[in-house]
Amino acid sequence: MDNQKIASFWDENAPDWIEAVRAGWDVYREFVNNPAFFETLGDISGMKLLDVGCGEGYNTRKFADLGAKLVGMDVSRLMIAAARDHETEEPRGIEYHLTPASDLSMLDDESFDGVLSTMTLMDLKDYAESIAEIARVLKPGGLFQFSVTHPCTMTRMWRWMYDDDDDEKIGVVVGDYFGLAKNRRGDVDEWYFGGAPREVRQTARPFRIPRFFRPISEYFNTLINAGFTVEKLVEPHASEADVSKCRNISDTRIIPYFLIFRCTKTAT
Ligand SMILES: C[S@@+](CC[C@H](N)C(=O)[O-])C[C@H]1O[C@@H](n2cnc3c(N)ncnc32)[C@H](O)[C@@H]1O
Repeated sequence: MDNQKIASFWDENAPDWIEAVRAGWDVYREFVNNPAFFETLGDISGMKLLDVGCGEGYNTRKFADLGAKLVGMDVSRLMIAAARDHETEEPRGIEYHLTPASDLSMLDDESFDGVLSTMTLMDLKDYAESIAEIARVLKPGGLFQFSVTHPCTMTRMWRWMYDDDDDEKIGVVVGDYFGLAKNRRGDVDEWYFGGAPREVRQTARPFRIPRFFRPISEYFNTLINAGFTVEKLVEPHASEADVSKCRNISDTRIIPYFLIFRCTKTAT
């Protein structure tokens, strides 16, 4: 699967994805991931930041609203078109580029204070090439913070494990961690947002999402080889109070679905 094919999957997902995300149906984003990501991020006001795999710009706009100057980029033509349309309607000074993360040649060396990315890097075919490009455009000492699906728990082979009475989830069985048994579930995941209203979920066409499973060592070693220092890891999960607001996210109290890396480009 090349980047053109990957982009075509995301172009197909784009109209329904944009509607669902803007409606707030991505409840893991709203209640689990974004709160942890923004808390880990801290003060970004005045920083020049790049959002890698920005999609239609939902989080890019949130970063801009915190006082940062944003550039977004994505491989999907329809996602970038929607992001630009939103920028025209409600300008925040965000500039968007249509390009794969492995080719940021329109951006100068060491021109960003920080690079951010939410829930995209596990979807990148060219992870190492993209990390090298991110390192190139970052200033020495610059921030690189990204979230991914947790590589240890969100594996290619995956199913729930229940208690002895078979009525309560207690864990998951994971397998094919190294992705050696190719295509057991396919490289294209199909799912829809569990937080959408029931009538929408019953009729919605599932998103088709190209995924490139990689072990946690590959995430780390690629960062280290590209000159990053990993400063902090966060495994976002819901509190009981969060679950009382949204039952769907109670799963994240059993296993971590997501992993946030906070890194800096080592100053030389
Ligand atoms: C799960 S979405 C996340 C979008 C956005 N970051 C957000 O949080 O709303 C993943 C995004 O990665 C983009 N993507 C996939 N492969 C890419 C690549 N090689 N380069 C840049 N973007 C890519 C897709 O087009 C899609 O918009």
